[in-house]
Order: sequence, then C-alpha cells, then structure tokens
Amino acid sequence: MLFKARVESVEELARHSYYLLLREPQLAAQSRPGQFLHIRIGESLVPFLRRPFSLAGACPQRGTLEVIFRLAGEGTAILSRVKKGAVLNCLGPLGRGFQFSASRLPAVLLAGGAGVAPLLFLARALVGKKRRVALFYGAASRDDLLPLKRLLPRETAVHLATDDGSSGYQGRVTDLFAGAVRQGMQPVELYACGPRPMLQVLTKKNEAWNFPLQLSLEERMACGLGACQGCAVSIRQGEKSTYRMVCSDGPVFAAQEVEW
Ligand code: FES
Repeated sequence: MLFKARVESVEELARHSYYLLLREPQLAAQSRPGQFLHIRIGESLVPFLRRPFSLAGACPQRGTLEVIFRLAGEGTAILSRVKKGAVLNCLGPLGRGFQFSASRLPAVLLAGGAGVAPLLFLARALVGKKRRVALFYGAASRDDLLPLKRLLPRETAVHLATDDGSSGYQGRVTDLFAGAVRQGMQPVELYACGPRPMLQVLTKKNEAWNFPLQLSLEERMACGLGACQGCAVSIRQGEKSTYRMVCSDGPVFAAQEVEW
C-alpha cells in the first residue's frame, strides 16, 4: 500500500550510517521484522526511482517506523538531508519477513555491516516473546558500528567483530560465531543479513552445524513489487532450480533454498 509518512527526525548514528524516524500509524501497525519500505526520495525526477530500505523497527503504540541506511549514492545522500516534518511517499510494508517458532530457546542473529538493520527489529520482537537473543555484529571498523545500547533491548547479548580489530574480535563475524559454536553455543534458530559473501560463507559452514538458518538477502531493486524481475535469485526446489524475486518472494529465504 502507498502511505505518506512524516519525518520525525534524521541523524547520523555512525560513520555514513543514518537513522530515520517516520510516523505513519497504519504502516507501523502492519510492519513485521524482515519487511522493507520502498521510499520515493524527493518529488523531483532525480533520483527517479524509489529506493528499498529495510525496517529497523516499528512501534504500533507510537505509530512510528525506524529506518537505518548507509550513504550509497545520490538517493541516500538526499534522504540524509530531509527535514523534520517532510512527507515521504512510502510503499509498504513490502516483502515476506522472518518466520519465528514458538520455541523459548536461544536465537542467534548474525549481521554484517548495514545488514544489521532488519535484525534490530527482529531482536526486539524476539525479546518481546521472551526469547534469549544473541547478536553477532561485524563491521569494517569501530567507527562503523551502530550504537547498539540505544537500539537493542538490554537483554540482548552482543558480540562484536571488526575487520581492523578496533573493537571486539578481529576478523569476520562468521568466524567469531564459529568459535562460539566450537565452545558449545547451540542456537535453535539462526538469522542473518549482510553482504552476499558473508551469507554464502555462513551457509557453507552451516552445512556442518545444521541449524535452521534464515537469510535476508540484499539485492538491487527497481519496482519492489515483483513486476520487473530485476531482483531474481536462483532457488532450489527439490531437484530443480527456479527463480524467485527477492522483493516479493523474500527478502527472507531459508538458507538451504538459495543457490549461490
Ligand atoms: Fe522488480 Fe523485484 S525489484 S521484481
């Protein structure tokens, strides 16, 4: 559905990462973790297309929605400068979000870079269901890490990794998690979002662990509605391969379905 959401605030949270708070009560009430908004940025024809943004949160009581995005071109640069009170034309909530079971056992969330945004929303939902949640979060450097104390329920256990070792474990977040598994961590459900190579490595490692793993894929999108086929990914169906649209069939897929 098409909504007009009012901008409450926009601020830089970490290097090149921005937090956008929107108000649109109906949209907030309908949004679920893993879904996204397709936002038209400005009224001019440049940039002409909408841009997809994962939801980092939605609060039906306050009627607000949270979006966290990294600067990545002209569209996001314009969005980083919007003013309080501006109205943004938003299509949403779009896509199929994360599934979660009725289990009370621990869930582990693995985030790479900007992929942390939908997992923040998921972490809050799981903690709200009294689940134990651990977030493994990797970024290039300390300055790129979002201030998680402000964004996550305090019950969430956080494990950090940075490429340069300026905060937490030095190296890949997938290796940090693999170390935790070696030491006995047994998540019941595993959720991940991040760059394609990270998800690929995780899927491969998980062949040995065999944890239920859901991946939120980040693809370039044009229409956001399943019409242009610009976001097709190859999906395994039994013995065969087929194509699915990240925007309308995903962005969340079971890891064993995705063909890399
Ligand atoms: Fe057009 Fe997904 S973006 S089909």
